[in-house]
Amino acid sequence: MKVLVVGGGGREHALVWKIAQSPKVSNIYCAPGNAGISEQATVVPIKASDLNGLLDFALKEAIDFTVVGPEDPLTQGIVDLFESKGLFIFGANKKAAEIEGSKAFAKELMKKYRIPTAVYEIFDQRSEAVGYIRKQGAPIVVKADGLAAGKGVIICKTVEEAIQSVDQIMVEKIFGEAGRRVVIEEYLVGEEASFLAFTDGKVILPMASSQDHKPIFDGDEGPNTGGMGAYSPAPVVTEEVHERIIEKILRPLIYGLKEEGKTYKGVLYAGLMIHEGHPKVLEFNARFGDPETQPVLMRMKGDIIPILEACMKGTLSQHRIEWDPRPCVCVVMASKGYPGDYERGKVIKGLKEISRMEGLFVFHAGTGLKDGELITNGGRVLGVTGLGEDIPRAIERTYQAVKKISWEGVHYRTDIGQKALCWL
Ligand code: AMP
Ligand code: GLY
Repeated sequence: MKVLVVGGGGREHALVWKIAQSPKVSNIYCAPGNAGISEQATVVPIKASDLNGLLDFALKEAIDFTVVGPEDPLTQGIVDLFESKGLFIFGANKKAAEIEGSKAFAKELMKKYRIPTAVYEIFDQRSEAVGYIRKQGAPIVVKADGLAAGKGVIICKTVEEAIQSVDQIMVEKIFGEAGRRVVIEEYLVGEEASFLAFTDGKVILPMASSQDHKPIFDGDEGPNTGGMGAYSPAPVVTEEVHERIIEKILRPLIYGLKEEGKTYKGVLYAGLMIHEGHPKVLEFNARFGDPETQPVLMRMKGDIIPILEACMKGTLSQHRIEWDPRPCVCVVMASKGYPGDYERGKVIKGLKEISRMEGLFVFHAGTGLKDGELITNGGRVLGVTGLGEDIPRAIERTYQAVKKISWEGVHYRTDIGQKALCWL
């Protein structure tokens, strides 16, 4: 079987790495891929947002199965486009992907189907948004409705800051059209977790839980990023919490989407805030998380291809997943300046030394090759991912490897996984 993976980050490297282990797969292509991916797949220089370019390639190469990583092609309708040409593709279709593409849509759906989430209101007028903020008081959260590359959420400690945020989003339009509407919601306290599940629109097959680390600096300080590291499992997701996530969140969501004529097939990602054992939804994504996918797939046993296929064919009830009981930690190594403007083209050193470490894999995100040397080519550059007998040993092994890798201006958090230690 010939498989095409769409995207070029750490998540896609993890997908390529996992898919390459399938005995069903003969060739893997990745568009646009990165330097690390090129060791396991044929990389094709087509952007993930170039739907027609991807379609032409899949038709020309007679690709049997396409797996989509990022949200942009999903919300633009890549699944609908490929299916209309008779191609087999994994991912949410355009209508279903709206749960990520529009926060307002996701919130209205949650309200209608009684899915626990922060209390909120949606506004397309600045004056009304400001009135609501004054009435509610702070802390309060201001969110741009549309996709804003993970940056459209502003946590405001004061009323003034919240009003300023509304002005930035609605008047200055710092997120462009994504800020035509804003969602203003209650500030939730608790511990966050990411919960990913496969679904064929009927059956929910959960993946192991995980926890992301969004802020750039240790101790969750500084601006939010796409994610600076993750670990799996997340101890905050106890068995009881797991049950609540399935029964109170995922099941009503799948049911609700079907009722609304948006049958959901693919992978569902729930970003959760868990307080005293009760999960509330922060956001839904219509895709695998990045970097959560790296530790989650490192722990997944068996062949991923039949599961991806079953999601789209509606036969997921026939599948189970076994998980490696060992915890896994992923530390993201980033370029100086990220998540703002960052440097590129720095030579990466030390990778060869760790390539033989057992239970450890370095997923590439923003890397490239220049004159045969591996260089940085993105904000998030590498995801060093290690398994351990327990979480302290997974942390230790992963940081042992991280410390051997370097480039000029490298930045990483030194506290990935520490929150899990509090549960020991
Ligand atoms: P989102 O993209 O909606 O997941 O938001 C990004 C981050 O902002 C989340 O991972 C949380 O850390 C934080 N956040 C979002 N919504 C809330 C909320 N209602 N209360 C507290 N923190 C939030
Ligand atoms: N790591 C957060 C996300 O993938 O949205």
